[in-house]
Amino acid sequence: MAKTLQAVRGMNDILPAESSAWQYLEDTLRDVVHAYGYSEIRLPLLEKTELFKRSIGEVTDIVEKEMYTFDDRNGDSLTLRPEGTASCVRACLQHGLLHNQVQRLWYMGPMFRHERPQKGRYRQFHQVGVESFGIPGPDIDAEMIFMTARMWERLGLTGASLQINSLGTPKARADYRNALVDYLQAHADALDEDSTRRLGSNPLRILDSKNPAMQDLIAAAPLLPDYLDEESAEHFSGFCALLDAAGISYEINPRLVRGLDYYSKTVFEWVTDQLGAQGTICAGGRYDGLVEYLGGKAIPAFGFALGLERLLAMLMSADAELPANEPHLYMVVSGAAATEHGLVLADKLRDAVPGLRLQVNCGGGSFKSQFKRADRCGADFALVIGDEEVAQKTAVLKPLRSNADQETVTQTALATRLGKLLSGKLDG
Ligand code: HAM
Repeated sequence: MAKTLQAVRGMNDILPAESSAWQYLEDTLRDVVHAYGYSEIRLPLLEKTELFKRSIGEVTDIVEKEMYTFDDRNGDSLTLRPEGTASCVRACLQHGLLHNQVQRLWYMGPMFRHERPQKGRYRQFHQVGVESFGIPGPDIDAEMIFMTARMWERLGLTGASLQINSLGTPKARADYRNALVDYLQAHADALDEDSTRRLGSNPLRILDSKNPAMQDLIAAAPLLPDYLDEESAEHFSGFCALLDAAGISYEINPRLVRGLDYYSKTVFEWVTDQLGAQGTICAGGRYDGLVEYLGGKAIPAFGFALGLERLLAMLMSADAELPANEPHLYMVVSGAAATEHGLVLADKLRDAVPGLRLQVNCGGGSFKSQFKRADRCGADFALVIGDEEVAQKTAVLKPLRSNADQETVTQTALATRLGKLLSGKLDG
């Protein structure tokens, strides 16, 4: 027999048993962003390669090593999006969404990075991203943090902690970069291969190195906050004051630099030690220069994205009680007349009992096999219709998860009876 084909490494199927947890997570996050007045924007999965090279930065890991890039049939270089911010800015510019107006937008969907797959790190993964345009002050930076804190609260997640930093204006960053390069060059013999390569291209990323042999060198390096310009320092202290006023705890991490080039001023990450090596569940910051860099006016912007696989892993390890989406009711139908009658009755019940999930047996089968299916699908009750029930306009309601007696109910009374039996379990 031929070997069955497998999915691409690092790209996961989300199976029916997992999809209700995904829906719960997506619905909860959608509720929170809507509560803050953000509107959804839906963006293509493919963009011109140029867009990511220009916005994320030519010498970042993502652009250098991780993009799924190919030429299409016209010979145009396209890339599966590794993140959503660049596409969001592109779409706003293309459709004139930033003309004299503020935008608060969010998106959700798969992103693609050719990283080495491991727990919490995949080649196709899912983000919820939130972006704002046209708001310069630290109020929006703080509001986004409030929003993320509310997300964790709504999901019942504890164990995420907030790290913040300011990267300053491009000028402050350039001054810092020079000081850092001087320092690192003076210790060139202590640099590992990766860091030596980055020294000329992206020295700030050396601070992110996880190599234990480099940690002493990094600990003694000049610190970015010492080079912060006045405007960025003021912005950052305004941001911290708003977090303090709301009672949100945070740690200032002067070595937090982020892996994408477009950031300036505030950056942040929510991290947890519950997930092993891939502990960043949410990250973002201010990117005041990107809109202009991609051809628009100088418009300030702030945003973040969170990783749904990582959040879901946290939810699972917290043993959170997640809503199920199994049917409440499985209709067992015996004979052609019962099938004909049952299909129509089922739709009447779906209308009459809002939130009811009712699966009708299709494809025939003996009583025994139909009850087996009823049990397997997770329903609480079986609703049995045979010739006699069709003639009498009744149905037999049989509990599947308790020893309670079955009951015969007239079809006109069924909706009320089901509403009562399933109270607290119906959706919506
Ligand atoms: P990022 O830090 O590259 O930022 O990704 C954000 C989050 O996506 C990470 O914190 C992580 O939870 C998740 N993530 C990233 N890569 C993977 C992966 N290979 N597997 C699973 N999860 C992953 C951005 O993407 C920026 N666009 C965020 C942003 C929006 N900044 C401003 N606006």
